[in-house]
Amino acid sequence: MIPTSFVNLPRVTFCQRIPQQVVTASSRRWSCSRRPTTTVQEPRCSSARHFTQSTCRRWELGQGIVEDTVEKRQWKQDEKQGWKSLAVADMPVKDAYPLLTSAIIPRPIAFVSTISSSGIRNLAPMSYFSMISHNPPLVTVSLSLSPRRPKDTRENIKATKEFTVNIISEPFVEAANSCSVEAPDYVDEWVVSGLTPIPSVQVKPPRVKESAVNLECELYDLKDIAPPGTDIPTTTLAIGLIKQIHVRNAVLSSDQKTVDPYRLRPVARLGGNSYSRIDSTFELGRPSWKALKERIDEMMGTVGKK
Ligand SMILES: Cc1cc2nc3c(=O)[nH]c(=O)nc-3n(C[C@H](O)[C@H](O)[C@H](O)COP(=O)(O)O)c2cc1C
Repeated sequence: MIPTSFVNLPRVTFCQRIPQQVVTASSRRWSCSRRPTTTVQEPRCSSARHFTQSTCRRWELGQGIVEDTVEKRQWKQDEKQGWKSLAVADMPVKDAYPLLTSAIIPRPIAFVSTISSSGIRNLAPMSYFSMISHNPPLVTVSLSLSPRRPKDTRENIKATKEFTVNIISEPFVEAANSCSVEAPDYVDEWVVSGLTPIPSVQVKPPRVKESAVNLECELYDLKDIAPPGTDIPTTTLAIGLIKQIHVRNAVLSSDQKTVDPYRLRPVARLGGNSYSRIDSTFELGRPSWKALKERIDEMMGTVGKK
């Protein structure tokens, strides 16, 4: 409900409308948030599709969900179906994994290149991956450990303290996926995938020529993580300090300073064996405290107090 005290305040709209709008027949079809989840479409590689409309044309402070579309009304209505609420301590890991990895999405995928201390190359995709800082520039990859076999990526990073992270784009997603084969440590996934190693500048592990963005990393920190109450690690978190960035000119935006997502065509991991691609993007400006202070103070009842 909107508090009556600021119903009559001047309108400040957060949502920016982007003048140019290219909507293809297929992007219109895909734009519906309530499309069936089980639809399997013909295999295809995506072409660049821009759908630059913000989700809401006229959102104002304090409004929560503006019910201006069927989808949004339905979204609100759906809450009445209730919740499934689970205490993680009572859940088997085999149930937590599919639930969490299908809910915390989309996850970018690091294609991690390492070399063992004896010089064997390794390449593997990792979707427990994130950028955690730009100053200093840090990325994390998280290695799930199995009692059955060591994770080569972990052993190599631990031993050599270097790796490269390569962004996976749609044109070589099958080759990247082939590197997730649970193979013994003598297997060189570069050979299995047919991808091309090219020398890095500051670290020994090569970078992937087919990838449009390569990050050369030095190990910043490594942390073994054990479930509460045990001391047997099930995960190793590796934090990498980015030392060198390589970007193909062909994926740069016209400003030459940023990467164009439609040119990069990254894939992201969803639950199970599902992936997503970027078919549409939208712009949403960040709120400015300076512009909104007066209105927010009215909402808080803190006018003149702070
Ligand atoms: C898309 C994708 C994402 C993956 N993400 C991870 C991950 O974040 N952490 C992990 O330990 N394994 C992950 N895996 C599984 C590893 O790639 C797989 O265990 C691989 O064999 C590890 O290789 P290595 O032992 O040579 O390091 C992922 C697999 C795929 C296909």
